[in-house]
Amino acid sequence: MAYTAPKLTDYSESTLNEFTADLLKHLEAEAAKVDDEATWKAFRDRWMGRNNSIRVQVKEILLKAAPPAEKPRGGALYNDIESRIKDRVGRAEHSYKNVRPALNEALSSVFPAVTFPRLDITLPGIRRPLGAEHPVIKTMNEIVSVFRNLGYSVEEGPEIETDYYNFEALNFPPNHPARDTQDTLFIANQESKPLRDRLLLRTHTSPVQIRTMEKMRPPIRVVCPGKVHRNDAPDATHSPIFHQVEGLAVDTNITFCDLKGTLDHAMKALFGSSVKTRFYPSYFPFTEPSADVQISCIFCGGTGYRDGSRCPNCKASGWIELLGCGMVDPNVYGFVDYDARKVSGFAFGMGVERIAILKYGVDDIQLFFNGDVRFLEQFG
Ligand code: DAH
Repeated sequence: MAYTAPKLTDYSESTLNEFTADLLKHLEAEAAKVDDEATWKAFRDRWMGRNNSIRVQVKEILLKAAPPAEKPRGGALYNDIESRIKDRVGRAEHSYKNVRPALNEALSSVFPAVTFPRLDITLPGIRRPLGAEHPVIKTMNEIVSVFRNLGYSVEEGPEIETDYYNFEALNFPPNHPARDTQDTLFIANQESKPLRDRLLLRTHTSPVQIRTMEKMRPPIRVVCPGKVHRNDAPDATHSPIFHQVEGLAVDTNITFCDLKGTLDHAMKALFGSSVKTRFYPSYFPFTEPSADVQISCIFCGGTGYRDGSRCPNCKASGWIELLGCGMVDPNVYGFVDYDARKVSGFAFGMGVERIAILKYGVDDIQLFFNGDVRFLEQFG
C-alpha cells in the first residue's frame, strides 16, 4: 500500500521523531525509483503537489490538527520536512537528467548494447589478501633497530646527489681512480655546471655522512638507510638499484676498538650470537684505516666444510665478507669544519640485499625486485 502520512494521537517528542523518520524513509525509497521524466513528475506531484500531496497531509497533521500549545513545534517540524521534500525532489530531477545518462553512457562504452551485466548480490565478495612487509624493507628496519637500540638516530638524504656530496667531500679527488669503482649513473646535460654541482644518482649512502655533519656538531651517532644506484647489469648478485645502511659515530676519543665492538655486536644481533667477526685491511677514500668486515660463515659454522664437502657459500674459507668500515679520514672533517685534532669517529656501510640474502638463504637478488607474490608472501 502506498504511503500516506499517519494521523497522530499525541505530539510528544518521541512520536514526532518516529513520524519524521518513517516519512523520510518512504521519501528516500520512492526517490530511488525515479528514472525518467514521467516517474519524476509523479514523484514530485505525490510529495509536493497542491492537492492532497504528502506535504499537504503533513501540514494538516502538524499544524491544523495540533492543539494550540503544540502548533509552534508542529510548525517548525513542518517547515523542516517541507524543505527536505523539496530538496529530495530536486536531487531526483538532477539524477534522472544528468547522473543516469552519464552512467548509461559509461556503461555502454564498456558493454555492447543490452548485454549490461546485472548485479548478482548473491555472489561471494572479492577477498583482498593482506600485504606483507617486503623482505628488503624488513631487513633494513631490522638493521636500523639494532643501532637504534644502541642510541643511534636515523638520518636520510636525497637519491639525486651532487658530485660534491657523493664524491668530493668524501675525499674522492676529481679523476681519482676510486671513483671508477662506483659505476656512477650521471644525470645528462650537466656539463655546463662546475663539477661539484653536477647531479648524479647516489652510488652509496655515504653522502648522508657529510649532510649530517654539516647540520650537527659532535657527538654524532646516526644510521642512514636508503636506496642507491649503480650502472650494473642485473644478474644473480647485482642490481642497478639496491639499498644500504650507513653508520657514523663522531665524538672525542672514539677508537678502532669502539668500531670493532659496535660492529661485532651488530653482526651477532643480526645473525645470531655464535657468529664471529674479523676485520680485514681495505681501502675507502673517506676512512683511514679502512677495513672489510667478514663474519664466520653461517652456512658451515665457519669450518669451511659442510656434510663432508667444501662449503660453497664461503668457498671453504669459513668467512663471508659483509661490509666496509673504518675511522673517518681527517680530510673529511676539513670539508665540514670539524677540528680533526679534537674529534675522532668511525663509519660503516652495509648492503641490505646482501644481508637479506644471507639471512633468508635467497640465491638470486632479482627475486627481491621481480614482484613475484609466491616469493614475497613467504615473508608475511
Ligand atoms: N660507501 C661504501 C660503498 O658503497 C661502503 C662504506 C665503506 C661505507 C666504508 C662506509 C665506510 O661508511 O666507512 O662501497
